[in-house]
Amino acid sequence: MANLDPPSVQPLYPGTVSQPSDLKGLYLSAELPANRGNSPWIAANFVTSLDGRIALDQGGGCRVPEGIANARDWRLFQELAARADCLITSGRYLRDLQTGSAQDVLPLGHEFDDLRAWRISQGLPPQPDVVVVSGGVDYTLPPDLTAQRRRVYLMVPQVVNEASLEVHCREGAKVLDRYPGQRVTGARLRQALAGAGYRRAYSVAGPQIAHTLMADGSLDTLFLTQRYRAIGGNPGTYETITEGDPLMPPAEFTLQWLYLDPAGGQHFLRLDSAAIASGKS
Ligand SMILES: NC(=O)c1ccc[n+]([C@@H]2O[C@H](COP(=O)([O-])OP(=O)(O)OC[C@H]3O[C@@H](n4cnc5c(N)ncnc54)[C@H](OP(=O)(O)O)[C@@H]3O)[C@@H](O)[C@H]2O)c1
Repeated sequence: MANLDPPSVQPLYPGTVSQPSDLKGLYLSAELPANRGNSPWIAANFVTSLDGRIALDQGGGCRVPEGIANARDWRLFQELAARADCLITSGRYLRDLQTGSAQDVLPLGHEFDDLRAWRISQGLPPQPDVVVVSGGVDYTLPPDLTAQRRRVYLMVPQVVNEASLEVHCREGAKVLDRYPGQRVTGARLRQALAGAGYRRAYSVAGPQIAHTLMADGSLDTLFLTQRYRAIGGNPGTYETITEGDPLMPPAEFTLQWLYLDPAGGQHFLRLDSAAIASGKS
């Protein structure tokens, strides 16, 4: 895995090529939308291979392949989490955590003391809250979350019976919303997040939640690290950044920044939805 040396990346866009920037702090100090009335800013982040893979099943379930995971991207992933009021995760991720096939506990990770300290200096709790999106309640909440005194909210289908929900509530979780059907829409999720008072939500989930958010224009910003490696994999064994019905119209984004990271063999993009890019939302 690459490390944080050399410490700089090269800004390529917007503007002309300028002085290298420090990788550490790049996303922590970036200007991000905050005051959008009663509508939280929702962002997602992925590291992908040249052939567009974000996860590969090499036995034991899909996970981010070692061929693309790296400390430089991981640092930026954690910095974005540090900026968030809450993280959006999935029922499947919690099941993967339980079986040991998930990448890590939810950020902020153990080794990021500086980011927890930064949050405290900003008047924020040390860890962002967690919102679990699922078509049921078939998952186990990691005890770490409540031990870290994070609020844990659940998006729950109306059909779920009270008894199975009660198990999670006894462990400290609260129901954020009970939605009709088996799949919540991005708009309903946004409304629920707004109801809880959140201003910035960060999806650390995968392609299905990204698709949910993109399908109705609820994904405001996509952060993308593209590593210059192709990793292959047969259909059914890998995942890409969205999974679901064709997006019609396509989810369209505007490039906001591009940093070249020669040491990591990758670049970092920020892409905003049209509404965010035009400042209308
Ligand atoms: N390379 C990267 O940067 C990156 C980033 C994130 C994730 N990943 C990888 O992507 C893979 C999948 O991650 P993931 O499972 O967290 O993400 P996901 O594919 O977005 O989430 C899948 C689960 O989320 C729930 N879900 C999704 N959309 C929903 C909706 N509209 N309404 C209700 N529930 C919904 C469902 O949970 P239930 O099954 O409980 O109903 C579903 O099984 C993992 O291998 C992970 O490592 C890679």
